[in-house]
Amino acid sequence: MLTMVLASSEGSFWLPRAASTGAQSVDPLFEALVVISWFFLILIVGLTVLFALRYRRRHADDVGAQVAESKTLEVVWTVVPTIMLLGIFYWGFVAYVELSVPPRNVMDVRVTARQWGWQFEYPAEGTKSDQLVVPVGKAVLLTMSSVDVIHSFYVPEFRIKRDVLPERFSVTWFEATEIGEYDLLCAEYCGTSHSAMSAKIRVVSDADFAAWIEAESGIDDLPLADRGALVVQKNGCTQCHSLDGSKGVGPTFLGSFGTNRELVDGTQQVMDRDYVRESIFYPARKLVKGYLGQMPTYKGTLTDDDVAAIAEYLSTLVENDL
Ligand code: CUA
Repeated sequence: MLTMVLASSEGSFWLPRAASTGAQSVDPLFEALVVISWFFLILIVGLTVLFALRYRRRHADDVGAQVAESKTLEVVWTVVPTIMLLGIFYWGFVAYVELSVPPRNVMDVRVTARQWGWQFEYPAEGTKSDQLVVPVGKAVLLTMSSVDVIHSFYVPEFRIKRDVLPERFSVTWFEATEIGEYDLLCAEYCGTSHSAMSAKIRVVSDADFAAWIEAESGIDDLPLADRGALVVQKNGCTQCHSLDGSKGVGPTFLGSFGTNRELVDGTQQVMDRDYVRESIFYPARKLVKGYLGQMPTYKGTLTDDDVAAIAEYLSTLVENDL
């Protein structure tokens, strides 16, 4: 109820919009803790000021009335806080268990984090995407891993934040309660473009979700260059490689194919299909001069067919075309 007073459903300085069942179990607890804290802050500070004024020493020999002991007082200030703390602990524990234990009958999504993007795989539906699209009112179980450093999966509106680690899996779940678009952020500092490591989470109706899966699944039937464009988009390549000629963390894709590039060791290299393939699977081997070589390998993530499609797509990105 406090949220309604202090925030619209769009969020404010108070809390972001509450758009998951997790938010519904966490927010009341948070609000209760804030109210209790304010109550005792005002009570204690108020009494301190009041007593300082009321019982201040008025004469040099004024010692006031002395209280030796009070059993009632001691029992009250021990038992009441104990009961309150146990109550808060119980409430927090119940909310923690709700957030930690996914319900049965969840939708399975695998999350891969890398410097600096997210990728989502739907094993049951056979789809991969750079955005997380989920049906409203359906519990989604995320099994997450990183291919390089530690990242953190953070969705303020869902009240979930969980580290994503290299060489092991971490798990979290949510059930979105409102159709809409939400921001996924990385909450663990992970290098140069950490602040840009975001993705969209789209919560849609069951019908829209089925339509999206249908549209995403036709990737093998596309013309090669279109498939390449889709692979580039789904893997978040453009986070680092621009399509408009501007310099990013990596070289731009625009007008790059077929050109000569100078490598860090001073040699020249033509950007042909073989070089595209080698750079995707072994990015550190032939670095272009002026770049730091921050790209992780996509070996195991992309297939040879994907790479062939990317090379075809890059060959279409000619400068005077755009
Ligand atoms: Cu990934 Cu910060």
